[in-house]
Amino acid sequence: MYLKNAWYVAAWTHELGEELAERTILGTSILLYRKGNGEAVAIGNLCPHRFAPLHMGRRIGDTVQCNYHGMVFGESGHCVLNPHRGGVISPAMKVAAYPVLERNGAIWIWMGEANAADEAMLPDFDCYSAPGFKTIRGMMDVAANYELIADNLLDLTHAEFLHDGALSSEAITISKLETLEAGSTIWANRWCPNGDAAPVWSQIQERVMGVDPAKPIDHWLYMRWDAPGHLLLDVGITEPGNPREEGAWVFTGHHLTPVSPTRTLYYWTVVRNHGVDDPEIEAFWQGSIDYAFAVQDKPMIEAQQAMIGDRQVEDLNPVAIPADLAGAKARRMLSRLRTAEAKGEGRPPLGGAALHDLLAKTAKSANPVLPVV
Ligand code: FES
Ligand SMILES: [Fe+2]
Repeated sequence: MYLKNAWYVAAWTHELGEELAERTILGTSILLYRKGNGEAVAIGNLCPHRFAPLHMGRRIGDTVQCNYHGMVFGESGHCVLNPHRGGVISPAMKVAAYPVLERNGAIWIWMGEANAADEAMLPDFDCYSAPGFKTIRGMMDVAANYELIADNLLDLTHAEFLHDGALSSEAITISKLETLEAGSTIWANRWCPNGDAAPVWSQIQERVMGVDPAKPIDHWLYMRWDAPGHLLLDVGITEPGNPREEGAWVFTGHHLTPVSPTRTLYYWTVVRNHGVDDPEIEAFWQGSIDYAFAVQDKPMIEAQQAMIGDRQVEDLNPVAIPADLAGAKARRMLSRLRTAEAKGEGRPPLGGAALHDLLAKTAKSANPVLPVV
């Protein structure tokens, strides 16, 4: 059901301190904390004795003592102290230990076999700390399957209808979807020249670019998907024919961490190149995203999940339109990767570099970025 040999966001860096924290990821309860030297630790949260949650325990140095009968576990997951008579530590007295990485403001956890953990499988989100850009972050608890959220992000034509008053734009609906696949990475790119800006973007047009919001703009939306649910939208507006670099440029990151088949922790970012020191612009983006995600997307996706129940989307024979293509490709890729994992086979590498290089080369160009392979 889940891809296990993959990195998931377990928390934002700033959320994790020395205190014990719990996150349920892929149906497994995980204990998270930082050691005295600041390194993050992730181990199973289920005490192997009588199954008390270890996050209700206490720190003893870099170890954790179960608060029920006092067994102590270290970062390797092994019991390091049995306080009971005899003090015998059997090999079964252990919990799982998970590889973690801390990068780009996130704690990433590898949920598969520890010896298969591979940094090369971590998609590139270096834009979160790119010079000249400012990142804001949030998290939303969504009562829906993570693939439904990926479907939403890979088909941005929903903006015109669901995001009324915020991101609604006919220019997106009528634009051509260009999909691209490289390795296990999929892109869904839309280039919307000379159209009316969506309400949120028309405010940026006026407040940041100093352009009459009634004037048309060129709008680009390049969405990159990586398994199991990491998406990066390269999006912005510029005056028609002007280089994208001269416009208002934003990256939005989306990290989908399944809690269960019908619940997802949705970690998001907004990375902008404008008003980086301006608290009003910061508040504007924070408010716009909170509204678009929490007030518009979330209730619809949760309602969709409630209608679907525990059935699989594929089994319901959904009617398809061209805008579904990228979402369908992502679902197929994920299914192929899960099958390969179940058979113990390898998986294709990430293909993120291809578009990244192209975007870097074309930052000064007004031309759309179209498929590169
Ligand atoms: S349940 Fe943890 S020591 Fe007994
Ligand atoms: Fe949306």
